[in-house]
Amino acid sequence: MTQAANSVRDGFTTSFGVLVATLGSAVGLGNIWKFPSLTGSNGGAGFLLVYLLATLLVGLPVMIAETMLGRAARANAVSTFERVAPRRQWWWPVIGWMGFAAALLILSFYSEVAGWVYAYIFKALAGELATTDPQVAGAIFAGLVADPLASLGWQWLVLGVTGSIVMLGVAKGIEAVTRKLMPLLFILLLVLCARSLSLPGAAQGLSFLFSPDLAKITPAVLLTALGLAFFKLSIGMGCMLTYGSYFRDNQNIPATATRVMFADLSVSLLAGMAIFPAVFAFGFEPAAGPSLVFMTIPAVFTAMPGGTVFMSIFFILTAIASVGAMLSLLEVPVAILAERYALGRKRASLYTILAVAVLGAPAALSSSLTSEIKLFGMNPFELFDFLSSNILLPLGGILICVFVGWVYGLPEMTRQLGNHGELRNQRLIRLVFFLIRYVAPLSIAAVLLHGLKIF
Ligand code: PFF
Repeated sequence: MTQAANSVRDGFTTSFGVLVATLGSAVGLGNIWKFPSLTGSNGGAGFLLVYLLATLLVGLPVMIAETMLGRAARANAVSTFERVAPRRQWWWPVIGWMGFAAALLILSFYSEVAGWVYAYIFKALAGELATTDPQVAGAIFAGLVADPLASLGWQWLVLGVTGSIVMLGVAKGIEAVTRKLMPLLFILLLVLCARSLSLPGAAQGLSFLFSPDLAKITPAVLLTALGLAFFKLSIGMGCMLTYGSYFRDNQNIPATATRVMFADLSVSLLAGMAIFPAVFAFGFEPAAGPSLVFMTIPAVFTAMPGGTVFMSIFFILTAIASVGAMLSLLEVPVAILAERYALGRKRASLYTILAVAVLGAPAALSSSLTSEIKLFGMNPFELFDFLSSNILLPLGGILICVFVGWVYGLPEMTRQLGNHGELRNQRLIRLVFFLIRYVAPLSIAAVLLHGLKIF
């Protein structure tokens, strides 16, 4: 793409901006809501070990490939495939449309969980969560999700806040906001960690997180870890591709992706170190599943001195994390609508928010009005999570690998990732190419088959 096309298209303005915005996408409810609960319910350190392998061998290469495609085409997730495919082949842009669908589906339930987090900030500050009994905390949570108006209201608030930021643009909205929020997130997380680690009995939580019991690594654990790696790094649905299209020409893509991956991993580990030592110190159950954040956490924090303050910090931090991820989720459909239908960013954002509000309503009402509506035994919330995480992301991931590994090819990949001869990273690129061509698609195929319960 030419410089001229670059200068008219919105994009990230500095190298730091690229880093924080991309990290903002990766860091999210996945680190605080999914990572600790999956680690807790899959045996601790053993899960962590396979998650690490999945991230390094599959997640990182796919992230690099996706970002590369976006920057090469400087276009949204659908148009990118039209531009970089060797001949006009109608099926490649379908990957972009799958990303469009996945983004709307994920947003539908993600905005609801983010809504609960916003609600919990106010509840924590008002002292309404002050109970050391997880049962009582569970009843408070059930009360929130069973209230249709509250559920919709919090979801719309989240959509309103994040949608307005996306409307402002890539540089003035997404980059400007993540630049302020990401450092704050790290500071709050460190404060929580310090508090949790200084509790008597914290060591047990650490050993739960860091001494693996290899016997607990079953095939199912392996596959769950790979699925989490996808969700965590925002890959398989054109999100990293869309952000890549805003990267600067001289940005070192493999280095940036690696930094984001490690920083994201640190946030997950810090979240684990803020949560597990406290959980053990007060004798709670680590394998509490997804209810960890909304039931166990309030009880754990209430049990410690200064609990209200630290509990409020915890939910503020989680809300901050959800913002950057939501911005990137919204950007996938917004870029497609704005660029392909010449809608302009404001209208494209508005249509996207409205679509999520409509599609998200059944998810938001899953514990009240739509609780009886079941498909394959799942309510709308569970169904949207299942369809996106277990089907669309892995399928998108395989197709991206097949496209890059078998159609796009090594010579073009070397040109793009080497910044047209500027960087000396050919060996690294060959390694990434090998992973993309063979290792990643085969492992992802295993996740997909598991998700569909075929084996
Ligand atoms: N990576 C985000 C998290 O871990 O919370 C979730 C996410 C964001 C998934 C963007 C997919 C995506 F495109």
